[in-house]
Amino acid sequence: MASSDVRINGDRVSRRLQELSTIGRDPRGGMSRFSFTPAHAQACLLVAGWLREAGLDPAIDGAGNLAGLGPGRGAALCAGSHLDTVPMGGIYDGALGVVGAVECAQALRDAGASLRRPYAALAFADEEGHSFGIGCLTSRALVGELPDEQMRTIRDREGRTLAERAAAWDCPLPHRDPPRLAAYLELHIEQGPRLHAEGLDAAAATAIAGISRTTATFIGQANHGGTTPMAMRRDALWGAATLVLDVRRLALASAGATVATVGKIDVEPGATNVVPGAARVRVEVRSGEDARLARLRADVEAAAHAAARAFGLSVTVDPWDSLPPQPLDDGIRTLALAHAARRGLHAISMPSWAGHDAKILAPHVPAGLIFVPSRDGISHSPAEFTSPAQIAAGVQVLMDTLVAIDAASPAA
Ligand code: HGY
Ligand code: MN
Ligand code: MN
Repeated sequence: MASSDVRINGDRVSRRLQELSTIGRDPRGGMSRFSFTPAHAQACLLVAGWLREAGLDPAIDGAGNLAGLGPGRGAALCAGSHLDTVPMGGIYDGALGVVGAVECAQALRDAGASLRRPYAALAFADEEGHSFGIGCLTSRALVGELPDEQMRTIRDREGRTLAERAAAWDCPLPHRDPPRLAAYLELHIEQGPRLHAEGLDAAAATAIAGISRTTATFIGQANHGGTTPMAMRRDALWGAATLVLDVRRLALASAGATVATVGKIDVEPGATNVVPGAARVRVEVRSGEDARLARLRADVEAAAHAAARAFGLSVTVDPWDSLPPQPLDDGIRTLALAHAARRGLHAISMPSWAGHDAKILAPHVPAGLIFVPSRDGISHSPAEFTSPAQIAAGVQVLMDTLVAIDAASPAA
């Protein structure tokens, strides 16, 4: 069969997504599947079995990424996404791109077709940044973007380095260096409201927003919660609380050009009857424009200092992770939109406000990102949902776009 009309099997994709979702369930609800845990190893083993079925050879690289590599010489055309989730996340974020990438290899094989270039399906180990606080950690490792010093020194919540954590991880799969990439394509749920609200089937992303993360640490004086008069308190949480609302105000003032989130605050000593002596506030800001990102970051820092002054506190502001906005490949986007239209789907171009591994790979190889709708725009939540038909449509667009990139690119 000509590779231009390879049909993916939507039932198989949905079945596999459900199977993968049984690994790393959180008893509180949703998925909590983190990198270098037994659940991650179990997920890799499950996906490795599918990769073999699809004719790809699975192996793990030094950063814990799983790659299934097909036959052929030269740089590989790659598709994939990540296996990790946020705490209490949904079953589609990341998993869809992994299962979709495997399905493309299997659909080609079922059709007796093949690409001219070698094909690789990738399952990144740590995209969400939950374990080490750094987003897209293991795709950054794959492209060599994390300086060796940082790779050696970053620590997880238990104080372990990446190397220590990876060495202690029991995942009985062969090891291999990551494949050389010719291009990268990621299928993902939109994670926002637009496609669902507008009744659209798919999108191809123009660019991925810049993300900048900062910790503001307010220091006051821990003291007795009953005996300390209100006027004498130096309550670190008052500074933190003020900053949270300032972050909201600043992002709102940009009229849609930025978003900002405080998703984590640690208070010390953290007791009901003790005036907080320290409060650490993690602030994340995002924008599609680098200048806006820099301005919002500076405004947040100024707001933290103002909040500290207002309550007699000291504050330190430490930026700890920053990635600029990243345009994606226009050629790949155009192909994806054309093939979506060919299948009778309504698809648009739009920017991504969520981070993705495609953002890391894009400066190195042509990279594209295809979205399917998220019901009610909900993601990073157990309520995340995309219908089997929407998923099948997205995987078909992924398949068609891979075939088209392969046909358009010079032979390996
Ligand atoms: O945080 C993000 O945007 C992504 O979902 N990891
Ligand atoms: Mn996510
Ligand atoms: Mn994701």
